[in-house]
Amino acid sequence: MQGNVAVLCSGQGTNLQAILDAIRQRTLHAQICVVVSDREGALALKKARRAGIPAVYLNPNAYSSREEYDQALVGVLRRSGAHWIALAGFMRILTPGFVRAFRNRILNIHPALLPAFRGAHAVADALKFGAKVTGVTVHLVDDHVDHGPVVAQAPVEIRSNDTPASLLKRVHRVEHALYPQAIQWAVSGRLKIRGRRVNLSSRKP
Ligand code: GRF
Repeated sequence: MQGNVAVLCSGQGTNLQAILDAIRQRTLHAQICVVVSDREGALALKKARRAGIPAVYLNPNAYSSREEYDQALVGVLRRSGAHWIALAGFMRILTPGFVRAFRNRILNIHPALLPAFRGAHAVADALKFGAKVTGVTVHLVDDHVDHGPVVAQAPVEIRSNDTPASLLKRVHRVEHALYPQAIQWAVSGRLKIRGRRVNLSSRKP
């Protein structure tokens, strides 16, 4: 079903929580069918269980290669009925086989304005670089890290007295608004993908 979303997380799950809140507030018309994590202690799993959502820990050490792990992940996601996959701080690089299994149906949120500041330390890197503006990107996932077609972006000002923690806090605030919005566009079939360009079709009557 088009509205079934699986969320993949490794950490805190604040974006997962924002998605859950948007569903409860009916600004996001979707269902989270499963939350999967590669870390047993991920707070995201706790948040999912608290919300009554199936929460699966998939242990990377139980598989002999990234390909095998990703095939198991594909199995979990298919069985859950997921149509869309939302990566929310999932700290693994997905294999081409995984990307192929859900082509143009995997979203990721990145805490910078891509293509600037790719990688796992984007917020600290923007601050260290001396940038005046950073932001948030939601994009479709392709075979390269932090690279697929951009769905939505929003800026975040960097202030002279910012620390990594204070900047992260404002980045998170923007993420928590932007990701549910982008997922709503996705599940309602509004993303029109032409190569690298993603346009929004007009709302259905
Ligand atoms: C977010 O900042 C996201 O941009 C990045 O990972 C972080 C996940 O945070 N990809 P949380 O687990 O949702 O709090």
